[in-house]
Amino acid sequence: STPATYETILVEYADGIATITLNRPDSLNALNLTVLEDVTAAASAADADDGIRAIILTGAGKAFAAGADIKQMSSLDFATAYRKNWFAGWSRLDDVSKPIIAAVNGFALGGGCELAMMADILIASEKAKFGQPEINLGVLPGMGGSQRLTRAIGKAKAMDLCLTGRMMDAEEAERSGLVARVVAHDSLIEEAESIAATVASKSLIASSMVKEAVNVAFETPLQQGLAYERRLFHASLATNDQSEGMAAFVEKRKPDFTDS
Ligand code: HXC
Repeated sequence: STPATYETILVEYADGIATITLNRPDSLNALNLTVLEDVTAAASAADADDGIRAIILTGAGKAFAAGADIKQMSSLDFATAYRKNWFAGWSRLDDVSKPIIAAVNGFALGGGCELAMMADILIASEKAKFGQPEINLGVLPGMGGSQRLTRAIGKAKAMDLCLTGRMMDAEEAERSGLVARVVAHDSLIEEAESIAATVASKSLIASSMVKEAVNVAFETPLQQGLAYERRLFHASLATNDQSEGMAAFVEKRKPDFTDS
C-alpha cells in the first residue's frame, strides 16, 4: 500500500522497506511533539502493513536530529511536563516488531541520539556526530540517554558524554559499541537499504523473535533471559519457516519463507 503523508517527515515504501526521513532540515530536524506523533504513527503503520518487512529511519540535510526542539521546550514548565509525561510517547516505538535501522547521516544529539538508540541496528555515516549535550542547557537527557547510552557504551563513556556534553565522531561511536557500522557518507542510504533488504529476506517471525529476544536481554537477569530465549527457540520449531529453512539448507537451495 502507499504510506500516509505527514507534516514533519517523508515516508516512502519501496521493495518491502519503509523509509522514514525526518524532514525539518531548517531546524536540524529538531524533535517537537508533531515529529513524535508523525514518526510513531508512521512506524506503527509500517509495522502493521503486510507489504513492509523492515524500516529505515534517517534525517534530511546535515542532521539526523539535533535533539528535542529547544525553541518548543524553552517555555515548558515542570507542571506541564510532568502532568503530560512529556516525551513518554516515544516509547510507542518499542512496540514495533519489525526491525528498525537507523541510518545516522549527521548530528545525532540529545533526543536525536536517543531516537537513534531506539532503533535495532544503528549505522553511521563518516560525518555522524553523537552526543548528549543537555547539560549545556541546564538539563539532562530525558528520552533514554542516561539509560540506553550507558547500556550501549558503559558508564565511563556515558558519564563522559553526558557530563561534558561533548560530541563523539562516528569512529569513536563504532569503537564504543554505539553503532554497528560506519560507512561512506554518500553510500549511507544504499548501505541501510542493503541491510534492510537482507533482513527483509528472512522469515518475519524469526526476525521479530530475534528482536524480542535481544531486547529481553536489557530487562532480565541472565538465567531468565536464557530461559526466555530457549522458549522462543522452541516456539520457532512450530513455524513453517523453520521447516522450510532447514529443508532448504539440507537440499542446498534458497529458502522460500512465507512468514507462517
Ligand atoms: C531547535 C534547533 C536545534 C534544536 C538546531 N536548531 N538544533 N532548533 N532545537 N535542538 C536550529 C538552530 O537554532 C538554527 O536555527 C538551525 O537549527 C541551524 O542550527 P545552527 O546552530 O545554526 O547550526 P550549526 O552552527 O551547524 O550547529 C549545529 C549544532 C547546533 C552544533 C548541532 O545547532 C546545536 O548545538 N544544536 C543544539 C543541540 C542540543 O543541545 N541538543 C539537545 C537538545 S535537548 P535558526 O533559526 O537560527 O536558523 C534534548 C533533550 C531531550 O534533546 C529530552 C527531553 C525530554
